[in-house]
Amino acid sequence: MSILLIGDFTETEYATWSSRLLLHLPGNEPLVQATREYDKRAVRVALVANPPAGSLSSLPNLRFIQSLWAGVDQLLSDASLPTDIPLARLVDPAMTQAMVECAIAQVFYLHRQLPTYLKQQSERMWRQLAQPLASDRSVGVLGLGALGLPVARALAALGFPVVGWSLNPRKDTSIESYHGTDGLAKVANKSRILINLLPLTSQTARILNEALFQQLPTGAALMNLARGGHLVERDLLAALDDQRLTHAVLDVFNAEPLPADHAFWTHPQITVFPHVAATTDPASAARIASENIAAFFAGRNVSGLVCRSRGY
Ligand code: NAP
Ligand code: GLV
Repeated sequence: MSILLIGDFTETEYATWSSRLLLHLPGNEPLVQATREYDKRAVRVALVANPPAGSLSSLPNLRFIQSLWAGVDQLLSDASLPTDIPLARLVDPAMTQAMVECAIAQVFYLHRQLPTYLKQQSERMWRQLAQPLASDRSVGVLGLGALGLPVARALAALGFPVVGWSLNPRKDTSIESYHGTDGLAKVANKSRILINLLPLTSQTARILNEALFQQLPTGAALMNLARGGHLVERDLLAALDDQRLTHAVLDVFNAEPLPADHAFWTHPQITVFPHVAATTDPASAARIASENIAAFFAGRNVSGLVCRSRGY
């Protein structure tokens, strides 16, 4: 029996992952990589990072799939993915910390009006803008999961009034939160900065659209740190053009890498990042993935088990 490592890795990345995984994998099952010869019948675990569609359907003894990414939307879009095999997404405190740091940096970038000051500098313009404090700048967080909730809590601790949105009502009251369609309108109404940290599912695709932008306070800013499929690009451009939104920070896109001729690259009210809000850290992810494999075969709880019907 063996453990298969498969993804959109370079040979160097395969080598990094292999050396990290070998420090932690349970038992003495060989780790095989998809770019080399391996016996498909021997594979009982697949460690995956956006594997090619169809690649997991021809492993007759596969028992468990562990994603090395937090988001599993691309994996679940593969119609040939076996539906009866447990799939876990990555829940990693190192990734959470990275996302919290990213969200804090981008909220302050917007809050302290850096896009405007950078533009002024390029024009040699000396102009002092009004200086609201964090307590004057409410932030909305869509998605209160492994990443969204710590982001919401960190921003609240810095003095921003924070509201959050989840699918189910939340029992804890650490963050003012809402759910459902009415709840989304309430969150939007209060969000001078709106951060998206939802998983991409049939329910959340294209959720960052004209109707939502209309519900934000005039002059709000948007931060999409989740998936490009959440955003209706044309609606964003229209909302920026008519100043309903002042700025958008975008880390994720429908097409990645963002095509060189895409309008977002040069738009003065858009800041583009190359999907770097919180990348997987092989050192910590290898340990977490290995612990999950051990937990699965020991019949213990697995972290990040994906509910196929919910899509996350
Ligand atoms: P998670 O733990 O599964 O949390 C998802 C949250 O979204 C939960 O609070 C869930 O509500 C809520 N939600 C799901 N569907 C909803 C709906 N229809 N309406 C309202 N709320 C809904 O996910 P996560 O680990 O925080 O990750 C979120 C996403 O971040 C990933 O799926 C991935 O796309 C993205 N991501 C991006 C990067 C990057 O570098 N840019 C890095 C990592 C992850 P409940 O609490 O009620 O279940
Ligand atoms: C990155 O976007 C991830 O889902 O891990």
